[in-house]
Amino acid sequence: MNKYVVASAPGKLMLLGEHAVVYGHPSLVTAVDLRISARAERLDQDQIIVESSLLDRPHDYPLAIALDADLKEVPKGISFVLATIQVLFAEFSLSAGLKITTAGPKISYGLGSSSAVTVATTKAIDALFDLNLTKKQIFQYSYQAVLDVQGAASGFDVAAAAYGGTLYYAGNGETIRPLQLDTLPVVIGYSGSKVGTVSLVAQVAELREQFPEFVAQAFDMIRDLVGRAEVAINNGDWALLGQLLNLNQGLLDSLGVNSQQLAQLIYASREVGVFGAKLSGAGGGDCMFAVVSDSHTQAVIEAIEAAGGQHVDLPLQAEGARIDDVG
Ligand code: PMV
Repeated sequence: MNKYVVASAPGKLMLLGEHAVVYGHPSLVTAVDLRISARAERLDQDQIIVESSLLDRPHDYPLAIALDADLKEVPKGISFVLATIQVLFAEFSLSAGLKITTAGPKISYGLGSSSAVTVATTKAIDALFDLNLTKKQIFQYSYQAVLDVQGAASGFDVAAAAYGGTLYYAGNGETIRPLQLDTLPVVIGYSGSKVGTVSLVAQVAELREQFPEFVAQAFDMIRDLVGRAEVAINNGDWALLGQLLNLNQGLLDSLGVNSQQLAQLIYASREVGVFGAKLSGAGGGDCMFAVVSDSHTQAVIEAIEAAGGQHVDLPLQAEGARIDDVG
């Protein structure tokens, strides 16, 4: 059998700073143990083959693709893998054959990410071709691939997938600072629906054009909250962190990215005594989370479920990109 490498990367939960982070402002993110894997294998024939169980119609694959195929012409699940191959092959003058097989959990609650697929692919190719990339390089090449597919994106999720743990992320990757902490007392609730991240980012961009000063001030306040939240997390001051989450939620509401279902879960959790709660990510659906004391955790889980949400019980501060198997 040919040489192969299996790498994996985690998903992410945005803690504070979403939307503002797209414009270079800081954010805080923790990696979620919802891993996506990429298996990279050398092929004897001069071909690139991509196979993915993450696609809507996996029976159509494996798919042999041309290295210079148009990213818009291939299925979304394949496009991130292909973009990664294009970036790394150009940068390091690599040549085919190569087969990439990606896999991961069927349900991701909006916490798994295309960035995790991208980073896992970069990590697998790195090991297969002995590129010896640093974490920062894995981030940079993966972020380039995500931008090639998606256009505007802050890269915070790429950093979470590459580095793992809990990060302060600013300047589109200029600053990536791991936080040192033992636990994050967080309960996650899934709202059951999703509006596309790209359309919500576009919606905020429109609002910014219409009300430039308002949005600039909202972003400045979010920046301030993120800075204070980093200190609160470092001090284990969960009560303060909760207040900061509530303030950030108010600003996200003003940007128009909340949804009724998310609001219900946020208020239901607040009513049973959390330190604070907010949506996570682009908004419009996906997840919210609450910072909670041990004694309130069960009550908060029950309140989220009674309000129609689903408790997502996944470890946080997950390990970043890693090699799982080599053969
Ligand atoms: O919806 P998610 O979990 O992919 O998060 C999007 C966060 C945004 O700040 C809205 C976009 C970005 O690229 O940072």
